[in-house]
Amino acid sequence: MMFMFFSHSPIYLTKKRRAKKENGRAMDPSLISGMTPFLGFLLTFFLFSLFTAHTRRRRAGYGGSGRGSLPPGPPGLPLVGNIFQLGSNPHRSLAVFSKTYGPIMSLKLGRLTAVVISSPEVAKEALKTHDQVLSARTITEPIRAVDHHKNSVVWISSSLVLWRFLRKTMARTLFAPQNLDGIQAIRMRKVEELMSLVNNFCERGEAIDMARASFVAAFNIISNALFSVDLATYDFNKSSCEFHDAVVHLMEVTGKPNVGDYFRFLSFLDLQGSRKEAKLCVDKLFRVFQEFIDARMAKRLSQEPKEASSTDMLDSLLDLTQQNKDEFTLDNLKHLLLDLFVAGTDTNSSTMEWAMAELIRNPEKMVRAQSEIREVIGENCVVQESDIPRLPYLQAIVKETLRLHPPAALIPRKPESDVQISGFLLPKDTQVFVNVWAIGRDSSVWEDPMTFEPDRFLLREIDVRGRDFELIPFGSGRKMCPGISMSLKTMSVALASLLYCFDWKLQNGVVPQNIDMSEAFGLTLHKAKPLCLVPIKKPTLSSS
Ligand code: HEM
Repeated sequence: MMFMFFSHSPIYLTKKRRAKKENGRAMDPSLISGMTPFLGFLLTFFLFSLFTAHTRRRRAGYGGSGRGSLPPGPPGLPLVGNIFQLGSNPHRSLAVFSKTYGPIMSLKLGRLTAVVISSPEVAKEALKTHDQVLSARTITEPIRAVDHHKNSVVWISSSLVLWRFLRKTMARTLFAPQNLDGIQAIRMRKVEELMSLVNNFCERGEAIDMARASFVAAFNIISNALFSVDLATYDFNKSSCEFHDAVVHLMEVTGKPNVGDYFRFLSFLDLQGSRKEAKLCVDKLFRVFQEFIDARMAKRLSQEPKEASSTDMLDSLLDLTQQNKDEFTLDNLKHLLLDLFVAGTDTNSSTMEWAMAELIRNPEKMVRAQSEIREVIGENCVVQESDIPRLPYLQAIVKETLRLHPPAALIPRKPESDVQISGFLLPKDTQVFVNVWAIGRDSSVWEDPMTFEPDRFLLREIDVRGRDFELIPFGSGRKMCPGISMSLKTMSVALASLLYCFDWKLQNGVVPQNIDMSEAFGLTLHKAKPLCLVPIKKPTLSSS
């Protein structure tokens, strides 16, 4: 999911960028250099701010309690507030702060007031009781630069007619149950291709980068569901296609911290160039979308209506633009396509990577999962989506992975009017974050929370569909993720296939206990060091 906050290391990186990140995850140098003018500005205004800070903080209600004031929170510096206290993993810093300041606390991020929610009870109050008021999101600079905030289902408020139209459109096309079944063949084909790629690595005895391989599969599932073509390639040595790179770069740009978000009056300076970069990427992507649209329109014109038999989403969307000329323009259509690529690829692949990382660290759990799958599927078969309900341990693994490693660690929301939560006042436009990561690791919610223990979901009836607030990796309420079913289907069948067809080992004598599990916060919560595993073919299965 595309949420930006403080990050230095976003999403799926191109080869060059990934190498750069691996050498220095702690602080992105481009961030420091990008912020140099900003730091100069800060010094200039520091004394002035010291003078006025006291008054401002009192007015903002810091440290107060009860009706009419913001929740308590850590003291910050004048002007910048708590920005520099959050570090490169804000979800972790915020979880630590919440131990002192409680399950609802406030911070100052430059000029922005933020409220962070870190318990299931308060999350329920925000996302269920006050769902309607809290169904907007704070718009960041790169998003604003490309007018995405006026068109995107992710970014516009649920009170807008366009949002309702877009959600209905997704629910009736891409995510409609009959369509999800219809594009099952696409998912199966892409999983098959992934297995054949893994098999090549297996035959060469080489390690495969799990996230990268899963990312290409997830990307091509979306591109085929939308346009009936592959838009990413497994050829890791070839610079992959322009379109795929532009999506990846856009995710990086929008995942970076941005001075203009914390000091709106500086945004016109575009100090880090992120507005410009985002615009370049989106222009490129929209050009490609336009080519697809033109080609499809031409094909439709040259065919008799009864011959038009395409099954992808582009046809359904083009029909909608013709039937609802005022409500749904070609521009709206392109923004929707963009949302689906950005929201639906990296989330899936990073969950796959974390699941495999947890399993390789817990070999007995990997063996248990493999035994379950191999027993249910039998010898020399292919895992089908219809097999998944008979694989409870595999499903528990997916949930446990999402508990410990939610791709959207901080879910951003914004109240459209003043709202009272847990007795505190959140003024209109406060930046609200639900710290899903902290809830998933809270010892008052979960027994032995730091242990990867899928069994907990076999013993306890708890789901990820936004009703159990202890586990809300897909969010909850009206802005909840619409891709949940598609995502669970894709991840389950891909993971089951990887475990069914291959055994796995670490490369170069790395022992499971030494796997680096550190995180890189970005648009999604990534594994900072890519997980590379060597696949080994099961001797009992034929190698066909
Ligand atoms: C592991 C996979 C995924 C996770 C964990 C995930 C998580 C999330 C979360 C936390 C939100 C925000 C919910 C809220 O505000 O309450 C969200 C929104 C969204 N997701 Fe996902 N997502 C995943 C996969 C997908 C896929 C595959 C798609 C589409 C192909 C998708 C499309 C969207 C869209 C369009 C929204 C915006 C909804 C709105 O604001 O109205 N997601 N997702």
